[in-house]
Amino acid sequence: MIRSTSALLAFCTLTAMASLGCASNDGTSTAAPLPGDPTFVRDPALDVTVESAAGSTKSHSQGQSCMPCHQAHGPGPGRFTVAGTLHDSSGKPVTAGTLTLSAAPSGPALATVSVDALGNFYTTKDVGLDAKSLFVSVEGANGAGKTAMPFPTMSGACNHCHTGSAGVMLKP
Ligand code: HEC
Ligand code: HEC
Repeated sequence: MIRSTSALLAFCTLTAMASLGCASNDGTSTAAPLPGDPTFVRDPALDVTVESAAGSTKSHSQGQSCMPCHQAHGPGPGRFTVAGTLHDSSGKPVTAGTLTLSAAPSGPALATVSVDALGNFYTTKDVGLDAKSLFVSVEGANGAGKTAMPFPTMSGACNHCHTGSAGVMLKP
C-alpha cells in the first residue's frame, strides 16, 4: 500500500513539473506528454480488469475525474468505461451503494456497479456506453436516496461534469 501511494505521488510530482512547462534555456519544452495526450505511452501491463466492490478501499482521489489517468493514454491500472464518486446530500462520499445503467429511464438494468468503501465506483467492463447514450441512476445502501440523471449520458466520466458542489449526489 505504501508502495502504491508513493508511486502515485511520484507520478503527480511529474505531472506538476510537466504542467510548469519544464522549459529548457532555449525556450523549447522538454515536458513529458501529460495523461490524455495521444503521445502518452501507456505500459500494456496496466490494461487489467478491475471493478469496484462493496467494502473495497483500493481506489483514491474521490471527486476527481478518474478518466484522464484510467484510459488508453493514461498511467492508471485499468481503462475505466464508467467511474465516479457518489456523495450524500451533504457532499460527503457514501460508503455503500449502486450505479445502474439502462437503455430507458426506468428500463431494465444493462449493468450495475457497486460503490466501494471510499464512495468511488469504477469498472473496465463494457457497460454499453460505447454503443449508445444510457440512462443512469444511483442509490445508497438498500435503495436509500435513489436518484436518476434526467437525460442520458454518452460519457462514463461522471466526475468530469459532476465536480465540486455538483458531485453525483443522493437525495436527502
Ligand atoms: C492523476 C492520475 C489518476 C487519477 C485522476 C485517478 N487515478 Fe487511480 N490510479 C492512478 C495510478 C498511477 C495508480 C497506480 C498506483 C500504484 O499502484 O502505485 C492508480 C490506482 C488505482 C486503483 C488500484 C487499481 C489496482 O487494482 O491496481 C484504483 C481502483 C483506482 N486507481 C481508482 C481510481 C478512481 C475511482 C479514480 C477517480 C475517482 C482514480 N483512480 C483517479 C492514477 C490516477
Ligand atoms: C457531460 C456532463 C455529464 C456527465 C458525463 C454526467 N452527468 Fe450527470 N448530470 C449532468 C447534468 C448537467 C445534470 C443535471 C443537473 C441539474 O439538473 O442541476 C446531471 C444530473 C445527474 C443526476 C441527477 C441528480 C443531480 O445531481 O442533479 C445524477 C444522479 C447524475 N447526473 C449521475 C451521473 C452519473 C452516475 C454519471 C456517470 C455515469 C453522470 N451523471 C455523468 C451532467 C453530466
